[in-house]
Amino acid sequence: MSRHDVSLTVNGEQVTGQVEARLLLVHFLRENLSLTGTHIGCDTTSCGACTVLLDGEPVKSCTVFAVQAQGARVETIEGVAQDGQLHPLQEGFWEKHGLQCGYCTPGMIMTAKAFLASDPDPSEEAIRRAISGNLCRCTGYNKIVEAVQYAARKLSQQSSEKEEATA
Ligand code: FES
Ligand code: FES
Repeated sequence: MSRHDVSLTVNGEQVTGQVEARLLLVHFLRENLSLTGTHIGCDTTSCGACTVLLDGEPVKSCTVFAVQAQGARVETIEGVAQDGQLHPLQEGFWEKHGLQCGYCTPGMIMTAKAFLASDPDPSEEAIRRAISGNLCRCTGYNKIVEAVQYAARKLSQQSSEKEEATA
């Protein structure tokens, strides 16, 4: 099996490795980098538990080879909190009880993060559509939707405060 050098940024840090061509990105993250916050629920692109951001776009990392991430910027759940502060999405899941077993949560949060970057003031229907590729076996989704709504409000409040501070 041929091996390839890969070099990419993961959560802002440059990482390099030599990987088999068939190694999936999710295994590279979990096994080579010990970033086990990205979960594997199905391995067949069905559940979304393995969702990470690749150059800002949500991808199911069980469907991407590590070599395909060469030169890319990858963000995982471990990079979402900043300076010891929970991201508004993490806070929203906590406040609105958006999780039970938590297995789907990292993937949900990564999907929602990319979604809110493109639609900062979403309708409930748009949120439901955005997370439709992420399966949750526990919550019935309503609490997850509320968590994303909480995050949208908080992010908008934070951006108004930043604008006022720089005005
Ligand atoms: S583990 Fe990747 S979609 Fe389920
Ligand atoms: S909280 Fe258990 S699968 Fe979503």
